[in-house]
Amino acid sequence: MQIAIDGPASAGKSTVAKLIATRLGYIYCDTGAMYRVVTLLAIQNHIAFDDEKAIMQKLQQTEINFQPTSNGQKVFMNDQDVTNAIRQPDVTNNVSQVAALAAVRKELVTRQQKIAAEGNIVMDGRDIGTTVLPNAEVKIFMIASAAERAQRRYKENIQKGINTPLDVLEKEIVARDYKDSHRKISPLQKATDAIELDTTHLTIPEVVDKIITIINSK
Ligand code: DC
Repeated sequence: MQIAIDGPASAGKSTVAKLIATRLGYIYCDTGAMYRVVTLLAIQNHIAFDDEKAIMQKLQQTEINFQPTSNGQKVFMNDQDVTNAIRQPDVTNNVSQVAALAAVRKELVTRQQKIAAEGNIVMDGRDIGTTVLPNAEVKIFMIASAAERAQRRYKENIQKGINTPLDVLEKEIVARDYKDSHRKISPLQKATDAIELDTTHLTIPEVVDKIITIINSK
């Protein structure tokens, strides 16, 4: 069983995807985290975000791994735990540029399809239902208003000690949505067979229940 969850930034995809994967005992793959790791790789190696060749050279030598712990899933870039580093504003505000590079997308899509081949999976991102898992049995396209998404990101950030003001966050979210939806290669787009779920006025458990009901109906 493959469950694809796509949608714009901060729509709650990863929170919900994680809960569904735990409830069903499925593998969970956060594809956004993978694009974030590549962005961090560029930052740490002082590579410009549009230098596709240099980024690809580094990426070929870099493993991206997810490790479940009692404290949630950790993200590793080779041996380095980058779980927190990939959520910092320097990565968040540049990841759309890196995610627009054709060679990076090709490489990460291949890696994501390999992970999906390991078993039942819940995968979240922007192009899962359209490109990575076009035959997924369940495709969800989660949306929420930009104001609500900024509010959610703000609360998350405060817990992580990141203090970006709410209005700045909303502007950043709108800018990222625009870039993600207008890039040439697999832009953020609802698959024709995806079910749209507006989560603006829903709680997390309500969203999870709705998706589980959809899964059970398959
Ligand atoms: O879901 P997120 O905010 O962690 O994703 C980070 C960025 O990665 C997002 O701006 C768009 C990009 N991304 C993508 O292009 N394709 C995916 N499948 C997942 C994320």
